[in-house]
Amino acid sequence: MKLGNIARTVLSLGSLALAAAADNSTSSNSSTPAITVKGNAFYDSATNERFYIRGVDYQPGGSSNLTDPLADADICSRDVPVFKDLGINTIRVYTVDNSLDHSECMQMLSDAGIYLILDVNTPTAAISRHNAACSYNADYLQNVFATIDTFAQYDNVLGFFAGNEVINSDNTTATATYVKAVVRDMKKYIKARDYRTIPVGYSAADIVANRQLTAQYFNCGDDADARIDMFGVNDYSWCGPSSFAVSGYATKMQLYKNYSIPIFLSEFGCNKVVSSRPFTEIQAIYSTQMSSVFSGGLVYEYSNETNNYGLVKIDDTTSVTKLTDYSNLKSEYASVENPAGDGGAYAGNDYSTCPDYVSGTWEANNTLPEMPSAASAYFKSGAGMPMGTYISTQNSCHDDDDDDIASLSSASESSSSSSSSASSSSVSSVNSTSTQASSTTSSSSSSSSASSSTKSSKSKGAAAGLEVPALFQAVAQIAGYII
Ligand SMILES: *[C@@H]1O[C@H](CO)[C@@H](O)[C@H](O)[C@H]1NC(C)=O
Ligand SMILES: *[C@@H]1O[C@H](CO)[C@@H](O)[C@H](O)[C@H]1NC(C)=O
Ligand SMILES: *[C@@H]1O[C@H](CO)[C@@H](O)[C@H](O)[C@H]1NC(C)=O
Ligand SMILES: *[C@@H]1O[C@H](CO)[C@@H](O)[C@H](O)[C@H]1NC(C)=O
Ligand SMILES: *[C@@H]1O[C@H](CO)[C@@H](O)[C@H](O)[C@H]1NC(C)=O
Ligand SMILES: *[C@@H]1O[C@H](CO)[C@@H](O)[C@H](O)[C@H]1NC(C)=O
Ligand SMILES: *[C@@H]1O[C@H](CO)[C@@H](O)[C@H](O)[C@H]1NC(C)=O
Ligand SMILES: *[C@@H]1O[C@H](CO)[C@@H](O)[C@H](O)[C@H]1NC(C)=O
Repeated sequence: MKLGNIARTVLSLGSLALAAAADNSTSSNSSTPAITVKGNAFYDSATNERFYIRGVDYQPGGSSNLTDPLADADICSRDVPVFKDLGINTIRVYTVDNSLDHSECMQMLSDAGIYLILDVNTPTAAISRHNAACSYNADYLQNVFATIDTFAQYDNVLGFFAGNEVINSDNTTATATYVKAVVRDMKKYIKARDYRTIPVGYSAADIVANRQLTAQYFNCGDDADARIDMFGVNDYSWCGPSSFAVSGYATKMQLYKNYSIPIFLSEFGCNKVVSSRPFTEIQAIYSTQMSSVFSGGLVYEYSNETNNYGLVKIDDTTSVTKLTDYSNLKSEYASVENPAGDGGAYAGNDYSTCPDYVSGTWEANNTLPEMPSAASAYFKSGAGMPMGTYISTQNSCHDDDDDDIASLSSASESSSSSSSSASSSSVSSVNSTSTQASSTTSSSSSSSSASSSTKSSKSKGAAAGLEVPALFQAVAQIAGYII
């Protein structure tokens, strides 16, 4: 990797950010003006109207063929018109390659009036359930921040998810501490780099024993930077032609009543049905029965993968076949309007009370770890070279004490033209760990499959949402190809 490339990347990111800051005209004219958060709802910043997510989860190729669908114009030319036909306004993507160019696809989405909710993790750069403290390190944050650098320029980025279902059982609650630290670091980074205030959230598995504790924890404490801006719940409780009461939606309305930030269903669409999914929950979700608490949701998922949740079957790079689920969902979305006015949105800002530590039940810490000091260089100069999806950071914890990291911090402090030198040091520190880390990929993958097998049956569909173990293997297999 040559210094010239690094410097150029830093420069072009810098000028893009400047252009975005200086030019208001595009956002006022855009079909996707930025979405803002006020109280427990989203609003269109151009019209000030309440915004409800009507979306689908989108990762064609799924776990077995991990692909960044927003970096390939053929893929988005095939799919964006389908999104438009389906009548949606938002997609959620679980993994992208932050080293690729996304401008063409982001523009196509914007032209179609479609927003993006983006998870910032990759299968091998994420908080690990088995050693969360170790996986929270400067190399990991470099990857997260580089993804923010890549996407912050687009007005149609609705928000970022700092984590997806990291807490997925009774015995993974301690990981919340580190995910919340990542939320804090992302929000501080967005401010430090002068980006638009892009909401940062967490997407939770629906675990009976800790669903309310999780919601509270991520929205508690006096440090506003550490509190999420939006909460996604992956909820598969409405199966077939169910009802508000039978599905448990009514209970959840009580559970989340007066929660002070937007909540939405970041995955829904139970597939335990005889044939196709009727999606009658759409009628409840976008009614005043739920709009005082929920801001819509995203159906899992666009493409039919091995777990059988697809709305369409991918034929090839130019065509898809729409399945019965697709036409059912399209007609539900088309027949259900949003509630009038603000839909009963709650304007309070009274964030939650932090849940107490209870061994075996809720083991997250209300005192967050400090950000690894080596990561502070990125606040001054940007994250530097995006490392794509092949980098593995989960075992980079010990490197925080390494000499190369120490020199990274001092490089950024001592250098006045710090942007290129600091980021080139950051790249070398990242690269120095990557060889070592890649040999540990298989151990992360086996530990990960152990934890995902503990998912409750309620979150079965959500498990399908990322299928982390398979993704690990896929990445290990295609790593050579991506590099
Ligand atoms: C990382 O370092 C190795 C060995 O020093 C080198 O061969 C490789 O090109 C570097 N990779 C990147 C992405 O810089
Ligand atoms: C951009 O929009 C903001 C908010 O609407 C406004 O305060 C600011 O003056 C505008 N800046 C320019 C350069 O027009
Ligand atoms: C908005 O778009 C119209 C039509 O494309 C264009 O003529 C106009 O200059 C744009 N306005 C701003 C403020 O950029
Ligand atoms: C993986 O996805 C890419 C991009 O869509 C596609 O070109 C390729 O055929 C897929 N490979 C397999 C084995 O499905
Ligand atoms: C949680 O408990 C399950 C079942 O006992 C076990 O397989 C898994 O390894 C545990 N996970 C962690 C992170 O300790
Ligand atoms: C929710 O907020 C409303 C309005 O502030 C208040 O009247 C009501 O008591 C609150 N409900 C709960 C359960 O806190
Ligand atoms: C979706 O894929 C699964 C797994 O390959 C397959 O069993 C199922 O028949 C497919 N569904 C449709 C509607 O094609
Ligand atoms: C919480 O974090 C603080 C500060 O790192 C530490 O002193 C304390 O022991 C932790 N508490 C638990 C229960 O882990």
